[in-house]
Amino acid sequence: MDLGLKNKVVIITGGTTGIGKAITRAVADEGGIPVFIGRNQENGLLLLNELKKNNKEAYYIQVDLHNTESCKKAVLETINKYGKIDALINNAGKNDSIGLENGSPDAFNVSVSNNLNHYYNMAHFCLEELKKTEGKIVNISSKTALTGQGGTSGYAAAKGAQLALTREWAVELLKYKICVNAIIPAEVMTPLYKSWLSTFENPEEKRKEITKKIPLGNRMTTKEEIASMTIFLISNKANHITGQHMFVDGGYTHLDRSIT
Ligand SMILES: NC(=O)c1ccc[n+]([C@@H]2O[C@H](COP(=O)([O-])OP(=O)(O)OC[C@H]3O[C@@H](n4cnc5c(N)ncnc54)[C@H](O)[C@@H]3O)[C@@H](O)[C@H]2O)c1
Repeated sequence: MDLGLKNKVVIITGGTTGIGKAITRAVADEGGIPVFIGRNQENGLLLLNELKKNNKEAYYIQVDLHNTESCKKAVLETINKYGKIDALINNAGKNDSIGLENGSPDAFNVSVSNNLNHYYNMAHFCLEELKKTEGKIVNISSKTALTGQGGTSGYAAAKGAQLALTREWAVELLKYKICVNAIIPAEVMTPLYKSWLSTFENPEEKRKEITKKIPLGNRMTTKEEIASMTIFLISNKANHITGQHMFVDGGYTHLDRSIT
């Protein structure tokens, strides 16, 4: 199936590692132009070199999105370079373990703002271009928004707000034919996930305990499986899907865990 992504300019936040990196590669493999944003110059240049070596058009922007001005700058840089934006993938995030007991009001504020504000800021600054292309927005949220995780109030609150904003923006942008959807991953092995596992006394035991409970195949979701859903949602094959929360998790969030 041709997804029709050839020469589509797609911004991917947090696109140098983990799920974002898989999305960046998937966009490039479909002939799209990933503009991927990350904080770590080394990771960014490694991925850029890999794509260029494979004759893919791609662009890397090194920026920390915590700051409103940097979000604006990243969007303007994309427009200056390619003259348009076809899709925005809000993906950057960090499960920073700011809970009720292990946190403080100030730390909570910082965690929510670090995980949430750039989703809004990027959509806001991309909007004029997305109107012209009848573009797409995909927000990568998390199952913690719906199931809780314990000890991570700021991250969970931001992830929940991303789901609310997905529906809110889907409604606001109907008139421009801009589709807005969210993807809800649960258990995907990435640098973020590894660092969360490392907080347990025996990370490998914990990993086994979790994967045993994933109904479909007793395995974790791969980054590539999240990327596949993402590129479908930004394609013209998904032109009549908006405001949806898509669970790509092997049934982990919804199926009866007593069956496994
Ligand atoms: N891995 C999982 O199992 C899982 C589960 C649920 C949700 N998610 C979500 O998937 C998304 C990607 O997570 P991942 O597991 O690939 O993590 P990751 O740590 O591998 O990748 C996240 C990337 O975002 C970048 N980033 C974070 N904040 C940033 C900022 N302010 N400015 C610029 N870059 C920033 C990080 O540097 C990193 O490169 C996140 O939104 C996360 O909440 C992941």
